[in-house]
Amino acid sequence: MKNIRDMLMDSIKEKLEKLENLEEVEKARISILGKKGFLKEQFKKMKDIPPQERAEFGKALNLVKEEVESILSSKIEEFKALQAKSKALERSVDLTIPGAKRAVGRLHLITQILQECVEVFERMGFEVVEGPEIENTYYNFEALNTPEWHPARDLHDTFYIDENKLLRTHTSPVQIRTMESRKPPLRVISPGRVYRKDYDASHLPAFFQIEGLAIDREISIADLKGTLENVIKSVLGEDKKVRFRPHYFPFTEPSVEVDVSFPQGKSGWLELLGAGMVHPNVLRNVGLNPDEWQGFAFGMGIERLAMLKYGVDDIREFPRNSLNFLKLF
Ligand code: DAH
Repeated sequence: MKNIRDMLMDSIKEKLEKLENLEEVEKARISILGKKGFLKEQFKKMKDIPPQERAEFGKALNLVKEEVESILSSKIEEFKALQAKSKALERSVDLTIPGAKRAVGRLHLITQILQECVEVFERMGFEVVEGPEIENTYYNFEALNTPEWHPARDLHDTFYIDENKLLRTHTSPVQIRTMESRKPPLRVISPGRVYRKDYDASHLPAFFQIEGLAIDREISIADLKGTLENVIKSVLGEDKKVRFRPHYFPFTEPSVEVDVSFPQGKSGWLELLGAGMVHPNVLRNVGLNPDEWQGFAFGMGIERLAMLKYGVDDIREFPRNSLNFLKLF
């Protein structure tokens, strides 16, 4: 015959085995161990039990109570662990969700072309030098043999800061600064921003130039032509036609403007740069003897170069920075 403990356990075991969560555990605790619960009912029966069996019955009830308590507390632990696990899962990373896309930036088209040009010049032995964007009128004009009456000096064409200071209108003042601080022979380029009161499909109020200067004892316009043709063809392609057209600049003599044929079925020419042989007065201004030293110089528009390279016909696209436009390159 089964003992009393086993019989009592049998009657509640099934209930305990079916518990599925903490709430059910709590309900079971109340219904088995609570004030009006199963065990209390059993204890009440004690008084009806013959005295000689009462002690054994009481012992069995206490055993059952202990066992139920231990089953319930291990269930509580089990469900709490499960709950913690599922919470951790909720918080954890779902590797199947597509990640937030971060746009990767890159150099602006103009910067790319500028760097490309600089590399070509460096391969030809030119060195990079720099000058200030806020310039004295002396460096921007006078030292470059550009007298008071020259139209470039007009208030309407130039951003003056005060009577003697302005936003440089070209990179040519770097020529003067370089020749003042270094001895020839020289082969330098100077890339940088320049400013003018201009705004239309082929002019910007702020744009980039690369200035070039070569000073030596024997330099001719043939060196100038060869250098420029090499750079233009390296950057734009061998198929480009380059045209040298006589022109006037106060700081060169003779002077030329260089045009390049438009690409891809577009007809016509675009002026790309001004150049020439350094004017004897400019050499004198920096203390060089024109009978001993000669040189060529040029100033090239970088946005113009980009227009030619990619067939862009409005220069204002470059600083507009529309991503749709920039992404094309
Ligand atoms: N500075 C001129 C301009 O911005 C371009 C130029 C012409 C530069 C002739 C030169 C040069 O160095 O020799 O229009």
